Amino acid sequence: MTGPILSVQNLERRYGDFVGCTDVSFDVWPGEVIAIVGESGSGKTTLLNCISARLQRSSGSVRYRMRDGRFPDLAELSEAERRFLMRTDWGFVHQNPADGLRMRVSAGANVGERLMAVGERHYGDIRRSAGEWLSRVEIAMDRIDDQPVTFSGGMRQRLQIARNLVTHPRLIFMDEPTGGLDVSVQARVLDLLRNLVNDMGLSVVIVTHDLAVARLLSQRMIVMKSGRIVEQGLTDRVLDDPQHAYTQLLVASIPES
Ligand SMILES: Nc1ncnc2c1ncn2[C@@H]1O[C@H](COP(=O)(O)OP(=O)(O)OP(=O)(O)O)[C@@H](O)[C@H]1O
Ligand SMILES: [Mg+2]
Repeated sequence: MTGPILSVQNLERRYGDFVGCTDVSFDVWPGEVIAIVGESGSGKTTLLNCISARLQRSSGSVRYRMRDGRFPDLAELSEAERRFLMRTDWGFVHQNPADGLRMRVSAGANVGERLMAVGERHYGDIRRSAGEWLSRVEIAMDRIDDQPVTFSGGMRQRLQIARNLVTHPRLIFMDEPTGGLDVSVQARVLDLLRNLVNDMGLSVVIVTHDLAVARLLSQRMIVMKSGRIVEQGLTDRVLDDPQHAYTQLLVASIPES
C-alpha cells in the first residue's frame, strides 16, 4: 500500500458561530504515531472526533485508506460502513476507561465482544484470545471473569487498550489515554502502549497536553492553538527547536525533572 492511511484537508468544525477548529490539514502514514498537543480548549478533541467520524465536520475533507486500497472521504461511506470501520479497522481509546468499556460485564467479555463483532463465533477461541490479550496488557488471568468496576484505574485503561487492539485495527485514535492516571501508573501504561504500537505497526493519532507523552510515543507532532495548527513537524525537531512562539512557550513551561 502506498500513500497515507488518513488525509485531512482544510478541516473546519464550528459550534454555531464559534470555531472549534479550522484550516487543519495533515496526513497520517502507515505505522506512524502523530501527537496533537495544545492547551485546554485549543480544539484537540474536536479535531480528533471529526477525523474519527464521531463528530460531523462543518467543511473540509477526511479520507481514509480502506483495506482494499480505496481512499474515500468518510462522508461518502454509508452509516453501516462507518460502523464497520469503528468495530474492525479503528480503535478509540478514551481518557476515561468507563467511556470505552462496559463496566458491568466481565473483563473477558469486554475483549471478546470486539471479536464477536468481527464474526468470531467459537466460544473457546474467543476466551483464549481474550486471555492472551489480558496477559499482553499485564492483567492476571484470574481476573478474566471480574468486572472492570472492580479494577484499578490503570487496569481499566489497560483493559480498554486490549479491547481496542484485539481485532488488530490499523488506526487508533486516543484522547489523553493517560490523563486520568497517577504519574507512576502513567509510565507503565505508556510503556505498554509504546511496545504494542511498535510490535503491531499501528498508525496512531494521540491527543495529549503532555509533551513528555508526545516525545515518548510520537514521530510527528501537531501543535494547536485556538483551533488552528500553529506548528507541525518531526517530534524531536519541534521539541528541541520550536519555531512558533507558542510552541516555544509550551516547551519552556515543561517542569524540570
Ligand atoms: N459541544 C460543544 N458546543 C460548543 N462549543 C464546544 C463544544 N465542544 C467544544 N466546544 C468548544 O470548542 C473549543 C475546543 O474544544 P475541545 O474540547 O476540542 O478542546 P481540547 O483542546 O480538547 O481541550 P481539553 O484539553 O480541555 O480537552 C473550546 O472552546 C470548547 O469550548
Ligand atoms: Mg479534549
